[in-house]
Amino acid sequence: MALYTRVSGSVSVITLQNPPVNALSAAVRQSILNTMERALSEPEVTSVVICGQNGKFCGGADIKEFGSNVRGPDLVPLIHRIESAAKPVVAAIEGIALGGGLELALGCHYRIAHSKAKLGLPEVTLGLLPGAGGSQRLPRLIGIPAALELITTGRHVTATEALQLGIVDEVTERNAVDAAVKFALSIAGKSLDSRRISTYPCPCPPDVDAVFETAMQRVRQRARGAIAPVACVQALRAAATLPYTQGMEKERELINVLLTSGQARALQYCFFAQRVVGRWSTPSGARWDTSKPRPIHRAAVVGLGTMGRGITVALAQAGFSVVAVETNEKQLTEAKQAVSGMLERGAKRRGVPLSLNKIIYSHKIQPVTDVDLVIEAVFEDMALKKTIFQQLSAICKPGTFLCTNTSGLDIDELAAQTQNPELVVGMHFFAPAHVMKLLEVVYGRKSSPQAVATAMEIGKKMDKVSVAVGNCSGFVGNRMLKSYLEQAFFLLEEGATPELVDEALEEFGFAMGVFRMSDLSGLDVGWKVRKASGLVAIEALTGPSARVREGRRYSPLGDLLCEQQRFGQKTGRGWYQYEKPGGRVAVPDPWLHRFLEEYRGQHGLVARRIDHQEVLDRCLYALINEGFRILEDGIAAGPEDIDVIYVLGYGWPRHHGGPMFYAGMVGLNKVLERLEHYHQVHPDVPNLQPCCLLRKLVASGSPPIQKWREVIKKPHSQL
Ligand code: COA
Ligand code: NAD
Repeated sequence: MALYTRVSGSVSVITLQNPPVNALSAAVRQSILNTMERALSEPEVTSVVICGQNGKFCGGADIKEFGSNVRGPDLVPLIHRIESAAKPVVAAIEGIALGGGLELALGCHYRIAHSKAKLGLPEVTLGLLPGAGGSQRLPRLIGIPAALELITTGRHVTATEALQLGIVDEVTERNAVDAAVKFALSIAGKSLDSRRISTYPCPCPPDVDAVFETAMQRVRQRARGAIAPVACVQALRAAATLPYTQGMEKERELINVLLTSGQARALQYCFFAQRVVGRWSTPSGARWDTSKPRPIHRAAVVGLGTMGRGITVALAQAGFSVVAVETNEKQLTEAKQAVSGMLERGAKRRGVPLSLNKIIYSHKIQPVTDVDLVIEAVFEDMALKKTIFQQLSAICKPGTFLCTNTSGLDIDELAAQTQNPELVVGMHFFAPAHVMKLLEVVYGRKSSPQAVATAMEIGKKMDKVSVAVGNCSGFVGNRMLKSYLEQAFFLLEEGATPELVDEALEEFGFAMGVFRMSDLSGLDVGWKVRKASGLVAIEALTGPSARVREGRRYSPLGDLLCEQQRFGQKTGRGWYQYEKPGGRVAVPDPWLHRFLEEYRGQHGLVARRIDHQEVLDRCLYALINEGFRILEDGIAAGPEDIDVIYVLGYGWPRHHGGPMFYAGMVGLNKVLERLEHYHQVHPDVPNLQPCCLLRKLVASGSPPIQKWREVIKKPHSQL
């Protein structure tokens, strides 16, 4: 709704009211139209102020109404009505003016923003473009290059930047509505001819064609296969080259395509999935969100290698005091430098003061005695981690939460080393830990809801999206990754090359194919884990038993490369070759191709032609199948948890929504049929055998993803 009030006799104030962000639902749009007409018809009203309730101007279109049948006045003519009004209309922007909210403000004749306000056109992140005139008005106001950057990235800008760009006319430290009313009084009766943005010519740089070409290249590179950024560039080109009315027609044409695309649905699903993951209950019924987190002031990080350094930075940036422990003196010296460098660069980028004094370094574990929470990040070695948990349990003050950053070791086994296993949880960060948005919070059998709630909360403070998952080997992300990697190895055995597999996955939209990714993170990491678990024995890498482990097909290819010290980028050789150790540019390696041929020869494997479709089917459906098993086992509470983990932690293309959402888009029938087919061809690969839950869902008529939980809970007899 929109509340209509009159102040100072002659100024009408229209206040948008739709908590929590005053989104422009059908009812709100109708109400703005009604109140606007009233203001324009009342003779004593000389000017109008539009603002939002509770210090928030407007969060844009109501995303909950997308795809529904709710109808109301269209936003485009509504904004046009405001712009063409004969009385001045001033937008008082507090809090946020995003998407349709900013488009509404651009229809007003003046914009006054509070200094803390954030403005932006983030539609592209939801698979859309600013379709209520934003793609035509913003470039007319601030020029093509700046509008291109804002609209194709969806970036929010501060009020100060908005003022510099010319989006707002004034920034105030005081109450923006009061300032807008005062301003509205001062401009009553003045001509509005120069204030209607749609009448402005679009300021274009002289090399406008080159600007658009570069922009198009950039968006295509950044989001492979995403259609919204491309449509945004096309809409802006229309603004630059066509009169306003025709530009608006083009904007409508483009948004209509986007609105019906699967990509917009996928991105909107991601938006909501990301917001609800922290709230859901576990399959056993415990609800983390109702358990109060304990306040944490001081935290410790034990082990300052790749992960510990990033975690230390993220904790310090979130305002925690940190005790950083590293037993290796050389590592400690390097870590100090690395952490300071990351913090300095971070402070510069974010424009905030540097706070190095929040960290105390130590080569001994004793200073952790009085911290509230410890995050262990030493080598992935169970024996070492067990010793550290015994030590921590003995020396930390009572109640200290003990967390581990293990990539997949048993949390219960670690908890069993402590006097208070209820205080132990997994906090699985992703590299680089100060950058990556994902945190898997792993609860063991005895973890208390408060311990989980506290870890979830700390993650949030560190600007992460925390997802609570159950304890099993590899948790959610790495457990699924195993099935995906395995298929990639099998494809090499059957005739593919790393280049072919990566190309197929990158065309699908992954930022990096599986082999490039493996080279980046290091082949030795998984190798060490496999060696520790007894899966790798040198004598079993060749000969007839090399390709079988525990009765199932196994590929020793990764182990064989590690035997040759080919660990990936760090050694300059892996699945690809690099100019030098640490090099970044992957180049196909003839040695590897010869090695694969010899390997196939040794094992009597005949290379066949493998196409992109088979790569996608085998890798993605194996991954998805494991996802269904994870749901069935109750390791993830819902498909959204898995999808958020894959999008934020594993480079799954956001415009495909996440693996489980993608399965629904492709059709569960089809996923089942393909898995059945491939399992028939490869009966020695259990991961290709369709999981019971997938069969159950198909038998239930393939319900939409939001209804999967109901099916998961139902016993078979009720299907
Ligand atoms: N329509 C409907 N609901 C919206 C919304 C919108 N445009 N924007 C936010 N919400 C809801 C969220 O779903 C959440 O609801 P919940 O509490 O039921 O989960 C609530 O508002 C708060 O949002 P949240 O993101 O948790 O809060 P925040 O303070 O971290 O961020 C925003 C607020 C507005 C910055 C953020 O929600 C956002 O970016 N919204 C989308 C804005 C947008 O893209 N608009 C253009 C639409 S085309
Ligand atoms: P790393 O080898 O880079 O660093 C481990 C550090 O721990 C070393 O600096 C080592 O000196 C130190 N250390 C060893 N014993 C110690 C002790 N007793 N006290 C204090 N410090 C000690 O390892 P990493 O890649 O940072 O991984 C650390 C943990 O994080 C592992 O459990 C790993 O599985 C997990 N992890 C790694 C990644 C990744 O991509 N690297 C991602 C997620 C999780």
